[in-house]
Amino acid sequence: MKIIITNNKESGSTEGFKLFKKSIENGAKVIGLATGSTPVALYNEWTQSNLDNSNLISINLDEYTGLTPDNDQSYHYFMQKNLFDKKPFKKSYIPDGIKAINDPQGASDDYNEIIEENPIDIQLLGLGQNGHIAFNEPGTSFDSVTHEVKLTESTIQANSRFFRNIDDVPKSAICMGIANIMSAKEIVIMAFGENKADAVKKMVEGPVTEDVPASVLQNHSNVTLIIDDAAASKLSEESKN
Ligand code: F6R
Repeated sequence: MKIIITNNKESGSTEGFKLFKKSIENGAKVIGLATGSTPVALYNEWTQSNLDNSNLISINLDEYTGLTPDNDQSYHYFMQKNLFDKKPFKKSYIPDGIKAINDPQGASDDYNEIIEENPIDIQLLGLGQNGHIAFNEPGTSFDSVTHEVKLTESTIQANSRFFRNIDDVPKSAICMGIANIMSAKEIVIMAFGENKADAVKKMVEGPVTEDVPASVLQNHSNVTLIIDDAAASKLSEESKN
């Protein structure tokens, strides 16, 4: 795993954007995208760049069950606002959170088919404080493909900051599995801030275990981890060099 450590989130996001730009200039056509607070600055650079997305396909990691695309807490809405409105892709895929209400398996199967038909060239990831990637919480099988996830209390708690009321946070989501993520040819994972330092350490230096989903990335041959000094603060000197 290649590790890039920057002074702050802004310069980390610039490094992340550079990797996407390079990969697209080298022919990447299918781009895996993430939501959450981590990628916002990267998307901001993307919208201000001269990159043209009109020949690219995007595939997002996840969507809450039950939120319509126009709900301002849905990941559809997030992507529209932060990237797609200004830089539309030829086609953008996000799991169908409405179909998932009554048919989570159908919504998951549809998405697996989409990923199979459009193998991901480069995937962006954020890192959960408990080591989750997408909504794949500790204990998720490394063989998992897109599936329905019941959100843990800690994830509901962490995500409640975006909602008016903790009771408004959906209790489940449709999410790419670990095997889908690992099938991407290249992966860029970013984590900023002190509250990510434990997860970063476990991901990089700990054993590869389903208890820390992100640790699976140690088994991928083309991963770049971008962290700021705070998120890197618990890494050994050896990992940092
Ligand atoms: C987002 C996602 C999540 C976040 C993670 C970190 O699509 O699937 O795994 O990447 O929870 O969230 P932030 O970036 O808000 O710290």
